[in-house]
Amino acid sequence: MNEFNSIANDVKLGKDVRLSKFINLYGCEIGDETKIGAFVEIQKNARVGRRCKISSHSFLCEGVEIEDHVFIGHGVMFINDSYPRATTPEGGLQTEADWKVERTVVKKGASIGSGATILAKVTIGENALVGAGSTVTRDVPANAVVAGNPAKILRFIDPPAPIQEAGPVPFLDLVTPHLELERELIDVLRRSLRTAGFVGGAMVQDFEEAFAKFCDAKYSIAVNSGTDALRFALMAAGVQPGDVVVTVPNTFIATTEAISQAGATPEFVDVDEQTANMSVERLREFLENGCVRNESGKLTSLRSGRPVSAILPVHLYGQMADMDGILDLADACGLFVIEDACQAHGAEYFSKKLNRWMKAGSMGRAAAFSFYPGKNLGACGEGGAVTTNDANISAAVKKLRDHGQAKKYYHDIEGYNGRLDTIQAGFLHAKLPHLAGWNEKRRDRAAAYNQLLEGSQAVRLLSEPDGSRSVYHLYVVRTHDREGLMKHLNAAGIGTGIHYPIPLHLQKAYAALNYREGDFPVAERLAGEILSLPMFPQLSTAQQTRVVKEVLAFAEAEREGKTLASASGAV
Ligand SMILES: Cc1ncc(COP(=O)(O)O)c(C=O)c1O
Repeated sequence: MNEFNSIANDVKLGKDVRLSKFINLYGCEIGDETKIGAFVEIQKNARVGRRCKISSHSFLCEGVEIEDHVFIGHGVMFINDSYPRATTPEGGLQTEADWKVERTVVKKGASIGSGATILAKVTIGENALVGAGSTVTRDVPANAVVAGNPAKILRFIDPPAPIQEAGPVPFLDLVTPHLELERELIDVLRRSLRTAGFVGGAMVQDFEEAFAKFCDAKYSIAVNSGTDALRFALMAAGVQPGDVVVTVPNTFIATTEAISQAGATPEFVDVDEQTANMSVERLREFLENGCVRNESGKLTSLRSGRPVSAILPVHLYGQMADMDGILDLADACGLFVIEDACQAHGAEYFSKKLNRWMKAGSMGRAAAFSFYPGKNLGACGEGGAVTTNDANISAAVKKLRDHGQAKKYYHDIEGYNGRLDTIQAGFLHAKLPHLAGWNEKRRDRAAAYNQLLEGSQAVRLLSEPDGSRSVYHLYVVRTHDREGLMKHLNAAGIGTGIHYPIPLHLQKAYAALNYREGDFPVAERLAGEILSLPMFPQLSTAQQTRVVKEVLAFAEAEREGKTLASASGAV
């Protein structure tokens, strides 16, 4: 305190409040350890919390409430009456009784940049950031960054570590990305409602063009699910009823459903233990030893006696299969390759043959993507797309998705009702520019997990070989006590998943294929050990630290348990 300040007797000053010069305070309350700069005025019934910084020349009027840990820049102006007047209707000067005080709240941890103006009746959410010079006219959500006049949401930031530390960690957060893009998504909806454009049209075509470009493919054809994308891609590429399509057993059943729906039969090859993707060696074995060439030179499966026409590798968990090896074998055997890229939007693979990085969806004869909401690029409902560089396949998929017609009511074949809704295409197009950034964040989180879990007793990591850039649709680890670890994480409020617990060759749905336990030992072993940890672009460092801490705590408890067990065994 000093002689230049005007601090009224009714001011409640907390402990260790630091005041600069020329400060005018009356009727207000200031929390412990708060620092107030020169020429600040704080009026009656205003409250400032603990450990705040109020920079010079700021004005906090009656009714303003500043919670703890808030930063207020220089010259920030608060306003507490939406319709201030100097005089009453009778022409006299207004008194305090005429003044209508509307409450403004700045929540814990928020920051307000210099020169900002905060209008009356506004709440600025926890940890939000208001850009310098902004005019805030309405509520700012927690963790939002806003700027401009009127201030608009630019993006959201991670909450600071202490706020999240004790909270639950969801397996997947689908709410935050939609809140971040709420304005754009509502614009799409509005555009659709105003034009009644619900099926087909420019919004679908524009998205198709943009998505083809994203995948480095010539064509993209939007359809209504990843399952339809697979089925249409197989049919359009020439799979015939009765054919065999070779795939892997550790995938979502949609992969094999699509094969069956195209009239073909799935046959499996085992996967690579390090990546969980199709093993080129096991594929070679199957093609060389599990098949023969018939009189017309067509490869035939010894298992079923059916002709083999295609290979369907799955880019599992966001990582591309070893496409050079698979494509070489396919070429040598006269087969074509359809990529199941439903989990791999934006994944990349360095082709040694082509000497460049290739995107998922650009290497096979065609590829299928899913836009199920939880995917790296997800619709707000169902959706999918086929990508291809082949104009004939593109045309055939377009017919298949639209009742076999290229021209209205001229049906060349029987097709399906498999189109993507216009509104979903619009939503996907609004999200697409963010996909590369989201994928980068997933890769960052995966790198952090790898670093923090490396060498842990509790889990073993899958690998991302040189020449692969996974987009980590899922972050999957292996563990010998999956039930125990899941239970432990669940009790700590941490969500997990298993992708997938039973390999397809052992599913009841495929009993007729006559596979046995032991046919695909790697896929079976993985199915018993894999656990998917929380992974999404907005996963904060604090949340991830919590997950890792709990995984390591489980390992420690297990180790101590074992020590105790062996000690008691020794007695
Ligand atoms: C590997 C794989 N293939 C196919 C699909 C099917 O996609 P959709 O659910 O959009 O039909 C999915 C989606 O879950 C998938 O993960």
